[in-house]
Amino acid sequence: MDKIIIQGGNRLAGEVGISGAKNAALAILSSALLTDEWNTFYNVPKLKDIDTIKTLLLHIGAEVQEKGNDLKIRTRNIQNAEAPYALVKTMRASSLVLGPLLTRFKRARVSLPGGCAIGARPMNLHLLALEKMGADIKIESGYIDVKVAPRLKGAKIYFDISTVTGTENIMMAATLADGITILENAACEPEVAELADVLNNMGACIKGGGTDCITIEGVDSLKPVRHTVMPDRIEAGTFMVAAGMTKGNVLIKNCPIHNLEALAVKLQAAGVEIKTENDGVRIIGNSPLQSVDVKTLPYPGFPTDMQAQFMAMMSIANGLSVITETVFENRFMHVSELQRMGADIRIDGRNAIVKGMPFLSGAPVMATDLRASASLILAGLAAEGVTEISRVYHLDRGYERIEEKLSKLGANIKRVKA
Ligand code: EPZ
Repeated sequence: MDKIIIQGGNRLAGEVGISGAKNAALAILSSALLTDEWNTFYNVPKLKDIDTIKTLLLHIGAEVQEKGNDLKIRTRNIQNAEAPYALVKTMRASSLVLGPLLTRFKRARVSLPGGCAIGARPMNLHLLALEKMGADIKIESGYIDVKVAPRLKGAKIYFDISTVTGTENIMMAATLADGITILENAACEPEVAELADVLNNMGACIKGGGTDCITIEGVDSLKPVRHTVMPDRIEAGTFMVAAGMTKGNVLIKNCPIHNLEALAVKLQAAGVEIKTENDGVRIIGNSPLQSVDVKTLPYPGFPTDMQAQFMAMMSIANGLSVITETVFENRFMHVSELQRMGADIRIDGRNAIVKGMPFLSGAPVMATDLRASASLILAGLAAEGVTEISRVYHLDRGYERIEEKLSKLGANIKRVKA
């Protein structure tokens, strides 16, 4: 397994471009199952998770053509309306094929994802909604078997927890249902709004994408689209924290700052300067970092996918910061690794109390999940000495060429092939 080795202490400077959004791309590529001609998607990031969804689409019977960051996908018919355990267990977002397969081909067999490092991550809300739309659902030997005849029916659905992929799955399922579907307490993430735009460009009839109430009027069929995936707000946020932690001066090009308000407010409160310029957002970390409290919430609240990265920053800020994780029940796996680098963090239930230290010290640490890996990279950039991060396959799921991008900004970072 590859390792990443960082000699900390360099200030980041220069400019960096943000890749396409992983979580937008996963849902948008799945939506290609709703049409029977070639869809073309641009700015698709080259990530392990994108490889997984491509493998799954091919397994189902879709045709996929790739050229750089551009992907063409056509699903004329399918051989297996199935997402096998081997794929779903590596990426739970494989469940995003469930809604499209069911509504277009009237059947689907998707492995239950099983838990992951950050939590149990059930799919009950996806299934409750499909049941309300008339689907016949059976769960056996770890698989969800769903079918419907003759067609899904529109329904009024209330999500008692805001679920991103749950909202996306049901929104896609509702596009070809008979009648009107109303999703209440829907997820408002920008990735959901972008998926709604793509579906409407396919000929769907969706109102309220990106708000907590989405109305979908079913149509008989959808047509293929060309779409450019939006920049990844979590990658951008990770670079913003990197610049702040290393007293850097970095211009983040194509930075979706309008989707990062909650993070920007906290960074500014911590003493990081954020300036919008004509070709990007400049992050300047020239004043001492101050501790601030953070509570993760569904969008537009502080993103849970930035919690680990922000905790790395608070580990070297002045004072005490309370970081509360309200979305996932086990998203503090990075704490013990940060403690190995000298961070002073105490976990109390859903709260992590972080007492800022004057500096962190490089050490051998282990990545446990995607965003935990990012937090260890950030800690290594700011630490004194050498940090060696193992199991970086977690990182490759969600960051395109991160060590290359950081190296171009002046970081002393390299990947060592196993
Ligand atoms: C999406 O996961 C993202 N993944 C996650 O990003 C992100 O952390 C998460 O949303 C929250 O923003 C993709 O979009 C591919 P949820 P998702 O359903 O949809 C509970 C990353 O790092 N829940 O919004 O799986 C669930 O357990 C990844 O890029 C149910 O109880 O998350 C959690 O506590 C990690 N039943 C809460 O809802 C359900 O049926 C929010 O989960 C569904 C969810």
